[in-house]
Amino acid sequence: MTLKPAVDIRPARGKLGILLPGMGAVATTFIAGVLNVRNGLAKPIGSLTQMGTIRLGKRTENRSPLIRDFVSLAALSDVCFGGWDIFPDDAYTAARKAGVLAAEHLEPIKDELSAIRPWPAVFENSWVKRLSGEHVKKGTSKADLAAQVGQDIANFKRDQGLARMVAIWCGSTEVYPTPAAVHATLAAFEKGLKDSNPAISPSQIYAYACLKAGVPYANGAPNLALDIPAFVELAKKNQVPIAGKDFKTGQTLMKTILAPGLKARLLGLEGWYSTNILGNRDGEVLDDPDSFRSKEVSKLGVLEHILQPHLYPDLYQGFHHVVRINYYPPRGDNKEGWDNIDIRGWLGYPMQIKIDFPCRDSILAAPLVLDLALFMDLAQRAGMHGIQEWLSFYFKSPMTAEGLYPEHDLFIQHVKLKNTLRYLKGEELITHLGREYYD
Ligand SMILES: NC(=O)c1ccc[n+]([C@@H]2O[C@H](COP(=O)([O-])OP(=O)(O)OC[C@H]3O[C@@H](n4cnc5c(N)ncnc54)[C@H](O)[C@@H]3O)[C@@H](O)[C@H]2O)c1
Repeated sequence: MTLKPAVDIRPARGKLGILLPGMGAVATTFIAGVLNVRNGLAKPIGSLTQMGTIRLGKRTENRSPLIRDFVSLAALSDVCFGGWDIFPDDAYTAARKAGVLAAEHLEPIKDELSAIRPWPAVFENSWVKRLSGEHVKKGTSKADLAAQVGQDIANFKRDQGLARMVAIWCGSTEVYPTPAAVHATLAAFEKGLKDSNPAISPSQIYAYACLKAGVPYANGAPNLALDIPAFVELAKKNQVPIAGKDFKTGQTLMKTILAPGLKARLLGLEGWYSTNILGNRDGEVLDDPDSFRSKEVSKLGVLEHILQPHLYPDLYQGFHHVVRINYYPPRGDNKEGWDNIDIRGWLGYPMQIKIDFPCRDSILAAPLVLDLALFMDLAQRAGMHGIQEWLSFYFKSPMTAEGLYPEHDLFIQHVKLKNTLRYLKGEELITHLGREYYD
């Protein structure tokens, strides 16, 4: 039984171009992964769009198709890649330098990877203090730089014969800024571009150029980029989907898996101490306190929103939450995260949980880039524009409508995502009530 008529979704016909501002560890692990999967050399583990199923109707109906068979998504054979970086390395060289993937996953696709060369970046050292790049655009103003990015996008579309495009920011984390008057409206922002207003960051110049070109845009980093009123306005005006921010991987993923469980069982929390060691370029950038501040703000909100101390003061009022990231080069991309969690049970008796998660940062992030690219394209074809809250599942710090608190619980986010797909296809939403089996 269907609940409502399905939304009219334009079919995923033709090629989809995936634009990546920032072609470092995450972006190249994503590209190389897609090429490996496409050539039958590896499995897309961690990707909901490639491996996930979706239950439809009652449990007795046994209908659980693959998500990619249920909704029309771009096929991996139809995607191609473009991007910008402050270093001129092609995707093969950048992937080798990032050191995430072994030769067995790079050598068979060396020619395809080597052909992907980044365009010169929009970059200002004051926004990412630990990097300086030579492969950078020169412009007479920020408006001129945005126009140059727009030209790159148009050339990419023409040269590759693309039907559609999406963009996922995989660039370094910029310093933590405060929203300024120039971010408040589209008119103020466009004037700010002409005046080269210092409060406009490079990541905002890419976002502006993409939204102007009607390209859906997701922000994988924690810095302020899309989440300003000017872009919400532009996304609405140009009917473009936007989403962000900060890929939910590693320690925060674990937090949003565990914390909902503690809260469901009404176990109290005294404190949650999280620390990491990380040795890749991202770790080096985050070693700068101003870039780390962007990350810290993104990571800290999670527990507060899941545990709702205002509703459960006896359990969660005033818990201590500390997050540290330490740059430690010997580990490269193979981050290790430790958590010490001090909880309280029956009558207030204390207990502890310890987590040691030796993970791989870009291996966890790459499937999120793929899913976001394919789902953002779906959203565009389904006529959904503005903030895509149903994609909160992928972010540490999900964007929401003004005045709405974000949903951080991974399981609620998962239900929200799947119910959105059911809604788009006119299938009954799943409430898990299940009374009908007992009537
Ligand atoms: N890996 C994860 O698990 C994870 C999780 C959440 C968020 N992130 C974020 O994703 C982003 C990418 O992570 P990474 O590990 O690939 O880092 P990385 O340092 O390997 O790659 C970032 C790339 O962006 C480039 N860059 C910086 N500023 C640029 C600009 N203005 N224009 C174009 N390119 C620019 C850098 O030269 C670099 O090659 C970071 O912001 C990181 O914080 C990563």
